[in-house]
Amino acid sequence: MASPKFESITPSAARLTESLRDIGYDFPSAVADLVDNSVSAGATNVDIFIEFDGPESYVLIADDGIGMSENLLTEALRYGTRRDYQQGELGRYGLGLKTASLSQCRAVTVATRKSTRASRLYVRTLDLDVISEVDQWLVLRPGRENLPQRALTYLTEGTGTVVIWDKLDRVLPENRPEGGWARRRLDALAKRTAAHLGMVFHRFLEGTRDGHQVTITMNGEKIEPWNPFAPHEPARKELPRQRFEITVGSITGSVRMNRYVLPSKEHFSSPDQFELMSGPLKWNRQQGLYIYRANRLVQWGGWNGIRGIDEHTKMARASLDFDTDLDDVFNINVAKVRVTVPVQLRQMLERPINELCSRADEAYRKADRTSEMGSLKPSVPRQAVWNGLESAETTAMKDAGLALRAASMQAGEYAALLRIVAILEAEAPAVAQGLGLNT
Ligand SMILES: Nc1ncnc2c1ncn2[C@@H]1O[C@H](COP(=O)(O)OP(=O)(O)OP(=O)(O)O)[C@@H](O)[C@H]1O
Ligand SMILES: [Mg+2]
Repeated sequence: MASPKFESITPSAARLTESLRDIGYDFPSAVADLVDNSVSAGATNVDIFIEFDGPESYVLIADDGIGMSENLLTEALRYGTRRDYQQGELGRYGLGLKTASLSQCRAVTVATRKSTRASRLYVRTLDLDVISEVDQWLVLRPGRENLPQRALTYLTEGTGTVVIWDKLDRVLPENRPEGGWARRRLDALAKRTAAHLGMVFHRFLEGTRDGHQVTITMNGEKIEPWNPFAPHEPARKELPRQRFEITVGSITGSVRMNRYVLPSKEHFSSPDQFELMSGPLKWNRQQGLYIYRANRLVQWGGWNGIRGIDEHTKMARASLDFDTDLDDVFNINVAKVRVTVPVQLRQMLERPINELCSRADEAYRKADRTSEMGSLKPSVPRQAVWNGLESAETTAMKDAGLALRAASMQAGEYAALLRIVAILEAEAPAVAQGLGLNT
């Protein structure tokens, strides 16, 4: 008898679940991955609690989304959930719930309710200690009496899902998990996570254009959106919007870019706002591209290799939006915290980004000069948008001007360029204007 051409090998549950704990989440991004699920389930409220109780401390994430049927719940706990996705859905890999949760804890429990009529509540637990012991992909079915009271109160009224992280081995210190240090650590994590969620979900917190609004709370406090582009600052400047069509292999899609120069310190509405808008990484490191996938921020700060971080361009920020049809092109990772900007797009972005940075640089130097001069502050510009519909010929000239500017900065000779421009403006103003170097 011929021997079969293949054999089936089941992965070791014990080994794989342990190794998948380290695929790139930190605490805030792990919580954010669960909030993705809540947003996808149509939730309008997501409440997060980080409850300190020594070794019994737990994290609870409750939403009022559509909930899950019993079969769906079991499927949800499979590594690699089998399902299809619609365009714009935040999920992609069928992994997040498991990998994000178990990157921080050793037991994740999901309790869910799908129907408002039937008060059936389904509960399942994935416990790494059990999986390790039996080396099987086991899901436990605990009774609802094992749930914290808080979880039950969420699910008595309407539909929704509650996720609970127990055995927080990656969060609590191994020694003295009941001590003051552990408590302070959880408090600090709550603050960091709130800031992270306020940033990555700011469009949902503000309400997206298609009307999706979500409220997120952390330990009972509402999380405020942190919009990197300071939309309420009157002195903010916006450059003309850009749209790029990209094709990679058989995939085609469009990417949108909005560019802003935020006001310098003295043109901000208040010092507090200036401080707030500097962001978690502060002005210098928050300059750059903010990449959104289906309205959810997945990467922020820095110019993706297009140029370096520079003090002079620290007020330049740009949003880049792509939809889930371009996931393969952008190589979104499982933790949703990193993308790769395709080479083709990077080339297209160079010019508009250099233009933005040179505007920011100009504004920075102007502010610097006026602050040196003290009283002579420039007035807040009334027109906050740089209009500039450009013809093909002027584009080439502007490119040359930008290249000159960038080269002079690189050579540390920007002041010399300004002197040259002053002469050009006097003797050949059309050239200076054509090159976009006029002051
Ligand atoms: N809060 C929730 N409410 C309703 N359904 C949920 C919720 N969380 C998870 N699910 C269901 O469980 C499935 C598995 O979730 P999981 O996060 O593991 O993967 P995913 O969201 O499909 O993809 P990704 O790995 O990209 O996050 C989801 O596709 C969804 O059907
Ligand atoms: Mg998910």
